[in-house]
Amino acid sequence: MIITKEIKMADVIHVNYYALSVLNRFGIELGFGDKSVEEVCKQNDVDLDFFLDIVNTFVDKDYFPKKHLQTFPVKLITDYLQKTHNDYHNSNVPEIEELIEKMVDSCQTQKDNIVLLKKFFNEYKEELQNHTNREEEAVFPYAHAIENAFNSDKIDTSVIELMQNYSIEVFQNEHDNIEEKLFDLKNIIIKYLPQPKDVKLCKKLLHELFSLEQDLNDHARIEEKVLVPKIREMEEIINKRFSEESKNA
Ligand SMILES: [Fe+2]
Ligand SMILES: [Fe+2]
Repeated sequence: MIITKEIKMADVIHVNYYALSVLNRFGIELGFGDKSVEEVCKQNDVDLDFFLDIVNTFVDKDYFPKKHLQTFPVKLITDYLQKTHNDYHNSNVPEIEELIEKMVDSCQTQKDNIVLLKKFFNEYKEELQNHTNREEEAVFPYAHAIENAFNSDKIDTSVIELMQNYSIEVFQNEHDNIEEKLFDLKNIIIKYLPQPKDVKLCKKLLHELFSLEQDLNDHARIEEKVLVPKIREMEEIINKRFSEESKNA
């Protein structure tokens, strides 16, 4: 089912409960009564078309209007990506850590295994932090600089120098698959961790890991299939414009 502007925002959550995290990233809080998606977006000063694309790609992995997503301003895309990073660090990761901690506390017989699991997740957490730091410190500012140059009347030599030192292709090549290690972690639990005393905790932990993995997949798809091609196209146009402007100078 495709979410449209006419449907009630409450029904978006009924369609897919996980869409709640997308709503939070747009600053939309629960309590919207019977208001439609369009009304709630307007009330919260949210770009309706961008919200619809993002929420639909999130709830349906087969829905991905790549070309349409590429038409939105870079800042809108990176703001959403940034808020998603914040969610990982402030919500998903602490939630998982808390569950692992509870498992360590509640088990008596196989503490070693769970302590190993904890160590594995700590390493993962550090990797995720490095991954998002790199994007926030290097990739997003670069993308903004390219968009600014693209929108300016004249191409400045400083942006050409910037593009000589870095390009979105560098990011594309170094962008590592942060979801894969999470898959390994799930596998350790599913295949090798002896059933702990508190089965509920283990189920909850798996649920959280599956949900983070799905979210990360959705996130990486936006980075690789929307942000990268959009910036690459701008880089090409900037280069072309610069050589034309230099010829005419
Ligand atoms: Fe990211
Ligand atoms: Fe990434």
